[in-house]
Amino acid sequence: MSIIIAPSILSADFNNLGDQVRQAVDAGADWIHVDVMDGSYVPNITFGPIIVKAVRKITDLPIDVHLMIVKPERHFQAFADAGTDHLTIHFETCPHIDSSLQQIRDLGMSPAVVVNPGTPVNFLTEITNAIDSVLIMSVNPGFGGQSFIENTYDKIRRTKALFEDSNADPNIQVDGGISTENIRACYKAGATVFIAGSSIFKHPKGISAGIKALRQAVESAD
Ligand code: DX5
Ligand code: ZN
Repeated sequence: MSIIIAPSILSADFNNLGDQVRQAVDAGADWIHVDVMDGSYVPNITFGPIIVKAVRKITDLPIDVHLMIVKPERHFQAFADAGTDHLTIHFETCPHIDSSLQQIRDLGMSPAVVVNPGTPVNFLTEITNAIDSVLIMSVNPGFGGQSFIENTYDKIRRTKALFEDSNADPNIQVDGGISTENIRACYKAGATVFIAGSSIFKHPKGISAGIKALRQAVESAD
């Protein structure tokens, strides 16, 4: 069983960001997820390429950047230069989504597209060759620590089914409210990449315990 656990640094202690990332790496994190928010597409504001650059100095793990910003194309080059490996964009922010995904690939990054809780999945069939991954949001984007939306299981299943008759087989990622309570069911529905902030960085026994608990919860699946 090959799954990816991607800790989201949105829930890290920013007074000790370097140390927190190192702890996640040492505990077996597979990717580091960086949530970029602009206070416009989503209500919250976080950080930009300089934080990616800082994380890049700490680890060689893939850095997975999730852009929740308007006109994201303006910043693709800056994120590539900062050391981004995977760049994820929202369908709603790109009037020419196919072209935007191609630009990401041309810059040497792996392109992914997000499906929000209120967004139908069918548009994915039009861009199967342009994406390496689909990110299913299991909360509305903008904040860490929100509750998992139960409709996500069905959405993962419908996304997986969309690709059954095509040559494409993108990774299915799930992001938002992921915990030991729901990770196993997301895996069974077809997700293989699990992005988690609170359940890792705010785990009462620490970051390492948070990552191990998530992995164990999936590995107990049939
Ligand atoms: C929300 C972000 C998530 C967030 C997840 O908009 O995309 O990556 O950090 O945090 P938790 O796991 O706390 O819901
Ligand atoms: Zn995210």
